[in-house]
Amino acid sequence: MQIKEASFLTSSVNPKDCPAPNKPEYAFIGRSNVGKSSLLNMLCNKKKLAKTSGTPGKTRLINHFLIDHAWYMVDLPGYGYAKLSKTEREKFKNMIDDYLTERTNLANLFVLIDSRHAPLKSDLDFMQHIGNIEIPFSIVFTKTDKLKPSELEENLKVYQDKLHEEWEDLPPVFLTSSTSKSGREEMLRYIKNINKS
Ligand code: GTP
Ligand code: MG
Repeated sequence: MQIKEASFLTSSVNPKDCPAPNKPEYAFIGRSNVGKSSLLNMLCNKKKLAKTSGTPGKTRLINHFLIDHAWYMVDLPGYGYAKLSKTEREKFKNMIDDYLTERTNLANLFVLIDSRHAPLKSDLDFMQHIGNIEIPFSIVFTKTDKLKPSELEENLKVYQDKLHEEWEDLPPVFLTSSTSKSGREEMLRYIKNINKS
């Protein structure tokens, strides 16, 4: 699938202010700096659609992008950003929780994980949580360009073994790089198939 048109629509603090839930929606979630906004840009083939930054905590609102007049991509703030005050972190957590429970058109949540890192409890707990509340999700390993193929394979195995401790069946997994654009076709094909069903 190719994306022909992608444009920024709105930024919302509250799920109630988001666009009407009348189109399928795909959201990107994960720790600050994992590469959510960069992945959105890479999929849309537009460098500056979503704002990215080397400093964690760049995305602070629920950002909707309209794709081909038919579906939405959503860039969410990162979780687990240590430099925020406790009150601010709580505010982001509530914003994300409300979004996840209230957005009836959420077709799939992409949970982004930095492919360089060992499994983190906060990410595993988060996936457990969304599994429990039955939100359809898949895992996207980001920044794969920063690893040698053998290192990537090893990290992936460690992660999958960890997930198997809790789950028999694992969610779909994508390996991506926003710089080399690897994983782009696979993710777009996956979205296209859900949109068709
Ligand atoms: P917050 O909005 O702060 O939660 O961060 P984010 O998850 O949206 O991350 P963002 O896309 O802003 O990227 C963070 C940093 O990682 C930026 O400096 C990006 O250029 C870099 N980055 C993101 N994806 C990749 C990738 O696939 N490869 C490499 N090498 N760098 C990446
Ligand atoms: Mg961002």
